[in-house]
Amino acid sequence: MRVERLTCSIGAEVSGVNLGDAAGDASLFAEIKALLLVHKVLFLRDQDITRAEHVAFARRFGELEDHPVAGSDPDHPGLVRIYHGSDSKKSYENNYHTDGSWRPCPPMGAMLRCIECPEVGGDTIWVNMAAAYENLPDDVKQKIAGLRAKHSIEHSFGAGMTPEARAKLAADNPMVEHPVVRTHPETGEKVLYLNSFSTHFANYHTPENVRFGQDKTPGASLLFNYLISQAYIPEYQVRFRWKPNSVAIWDNRSTQHYAVHDYRPAPRRMERTAIIGDRPF
Ligand code: SIN
Repeated sequence: MRVERLTCSIGAEVSGVNLGDAAGDASLFAEIKALLLVHKVLFLRDQDITRAEHVAFARRFGELEDHPVAGSDPDHPGLVRIYHGSDSKKSYENNYHTDGSWRPCPPMGAMLRCIECPEVGGDTIWVNMAAAYENLPDDVKQKIAGLRAKHSIEHSFGAGMTPEARAKLAADNPMVEHPVVRTHPETGEKVLYLNSFSTHFANYHTPENVRFGQDKTPGASLLFNYLISQAYIPEYQVRFRWKPNSVAIWDNRSTQHYAVHDYRPAPRRMERTAIIGDRPF
């Protein structure tokens, strides 16, 4: 197995491994998992594996989840299809996000395999949110220690739905609250945990932060937008160009990602497994 770092902050390309074989090899899996904790996203080319092998490798990390809006392969529960045909409208892709942060226990990680992609375009960007936290000014770190934020699926996946369908989506997936700074359960790193599924701070309006009512809305939203914008900083990012059978495996607890939607009308078909994680603390 060879490992080549792709940036100073995040991402490594791993070669000399077949994930179909690794699905049945405990020590190879342990090596890959250890690399994931260090590099946060791993890229592997030429993974001509079956859907069953994709699911089997991801299952080594834990139970898989389906998605309430994006459908799964009927023969492989947990294998979510992210398919954009030549007729697909512009979609929710253009957002930096952490998968499923609107869940009480968001996925700990995910594995994405490219089935079909455009000749050029359709890259994905990942961001190291532990580096984003680490580099915040000390006064901001102090201000956000103990802050919590609400996360919701309603205003993103639900935005294109009828009001009735959106209300059902929200009722089935109630808004959740997570710390703005979470601690990674395996590495102990502190992670800035705010993304495009986050709607507002839950506990900003206290006497420490708000002297007069007027401080509340602009004060909270300026800080909120400043924190959201940290994911846009190139020094924390890696950008991956897909080819069919390329695979990305990421730690969803310490990263965000952004699928660049610049390739219409070319089709792009990806298949993703997401592994159930624990409650952020
Ligand atoms: C995702 O948002 O999980 C999928 C990213 C991609 O399609 O590149």
